[in-house]
Amino acid sequence: MNKDIIKEILRLKREKNAVLLAHYYQINEIQDIADFVGDSLNLAQQAQQTNADIILFCGVHFMAETAKMLNPNKKVIIPDMNAGCSLADSCKYEDFKAFKQQYLDHKVISYINCSAEIKTLSDIICTSGNALQLVNSLPQNEKIIFAPDKNLGGYLNRITGRNMVLWNGTCEVHQLLTAEHILKLKLQNKDATLIAHPECNNSVLELADFIGSTQAMIKFVQQSKESKFLVATESGIVHQLKKDNPQKEFIVVTQDESCACNDCQYMKLNTLGKVLQSLETETYEINLSQDLIERAKKPIIRMLEMSKSLGIIK
Ligand code: 13P
Ligand code: SF4
Repeated sequence: MNKDIIKEILRLKREKNAVLLAHYYQINEIQDIADFVGDSLNLAQQAQQTNADIILFCGVHFMAETAKMLNPNKKVIIPDMNAGCSLADSCKYEDFKAFKQQYLDHKVISYINCSAEIKTLSDIICTSGNALQLVNSLPQNEKIIFAPDKNLGGYLNRITGRNMVLWNGTCEVHQLLTAEHILKLKLQNKDATLIAHPECNNSVLELADFIGSTQAMIKFVQQSKESKFLVATESGIVHQLKKDNPQKEFIVVTQDESCACNDCQYMKLNTLGKVLQSLETETYEINLSQDLIERAKKPIIRMLEMSKSLGIIK
């Protein structure tokens, strides 16, 4: 059954000159048929560089919006319109606009996990893959608002010695991980190395041996001599980790004993069946007004240019 669906997806992809971009949090079957699998930064860059007529984006809504802003003349489709993000949803345009009014002399750095409207209120966009370098590239005395993830912002404040004003948003997948449960897992797996995404809260990050974006964690594990890892992020990453390191062991850190995975409910809405339907019907299309695109893409372009000049991407 899956075999037939996959065959048809690959055929339609060729016929329609469509590119399938997938985040590492997608189900294994989607990662396996994607033209490119990456983290938020890699995917934004891939979206900017593609020659395809259609971008089929398997991730969440804000990622597809970013792809559309970088390719206004291309059709960008997603398999499920409900694939949102708790972090992006925590920061509404009117609320953030009012918040910003209190700090008129501050620059705004927003994590890419936010809506196109929030991007219009931002000076620079960042991802977890470049946030530290981008923040560091600004003068030490620059006043900054960091939104919407207070965990990533707090982590950046601690390691840069800055005092950025933080928006009070979190990712429901990372925020629910606790130091208490991790300590139990560490006791059961004394030889394991803990890797964590900076969207985790501080008590979790304090226990981590390595903190980094999805791509940075993948690179760290590849280069590490250790053979067992506790993985404090979304479960989907383990597919790539296992592909790269078949001899290593990975234990996903869950909220508690009641669950064996740490899935993002939004990322996991995408299925092979929906991918096929999406290609067949060319839905669901991301539509943004020209004006919104013009205003929201400026800080994204700034991020990509700064990342290039800082040597983070090619
Ligand atoms: P990265 O892909 O930047 O590591 O971010 C993870 C994430 O939460 C995506 O929604
Ligand atoms: Fe949003 Fe968190 Fe899901 Fe990423 S993992 S899409 S930040 S809810």
